[in-house]
Amino acid sequence: MNPIKHVAIIMDGNGRWGIKKRKSRNFGHKQGLKSVEKIIKETLKKKIRFLTLYAFSTENWKRPKNEVNYLFSLLDNFLSNKIKELHSQKIKFVVLGKKKFNKKLNNLLNYSEKLTSNNKKLQINLALNYGSKSEIINAINNLKKKKLQINESNITRNLYTKNTPDPDILIRTGDRKRLSNFLLWQLAYSEIFFEKKLWPDFNEKDYNNILNKFKKTKRNFGKI
Ligand code: FPP
Repeated sequence: MNPIKHVAIIMDGNGRWGIKKRKSRNFGHKQGLKSVEKIIKETLKKKIRFLTLYAFSTENWKRPKNEVNYLFSLLDNFLSNKIKELHSQKIKFVVLGKKKFNKKLNNLLNYSEKLTSNNKKLQINLALNYGSKSEIINAINNLKKKKLQINESNITRNLYTKNTPDPDILIRTGDRKRLSNFLLWQLAYSEIFFEKKLWPDFNEKDYNNILNKFKKTKRNFGKI
């Protein structure tokens, strides 16, 4: 049985879900946050050490302003209301990506990271203003500045995900089969699960089905 240390998720389909319900795309995002909470709980229960969630890509800035603002207000409310609870559950909160938001949100993100920095039960990496190609370029530039060799372990150590093992599992909901500039380096040997359900419909049972399938998968890492 394969142990599971790290699950990464592309939470796709909120907008379509909102429209399908004859409401707005933002309504879908609001509902998507409920799935986030369910999956965090289940990840804790399963004693998985790392969970990486793709919440906002560098390309998502191109969305209408009202949607971008709504997503950040959801995040702001979520952290303002829940960070103490996450802290008490020994969850460590880490942002992957450059923090270039409004001052209030930047401060809240920094505060949340600092408050939870010594927690060891579950690390939640929230990919925000994240793009994998620029993460890799950033790592290589760091190495050049430090006059270090450009090799696999040095690049790995200079990614936003430093100190995080590579994901065992990538889940993408929303019936799209692409990686969307997410963890391109780190996913080299991950098992990928594409899920038809839209993110707001994704629940604990769907998650456990994937975890169970993964446990039975033979992983070769290039060997036979
Ligand atoms: C993709 O769905 C989802 C996002 C770009 C945002 C993810 C945000 C959440 C799950 C809720 C907020 C989370 C936090 C942590 C505050 P989409 O809108 O691209 O879906 P579509 O393909 O239907 O358009």
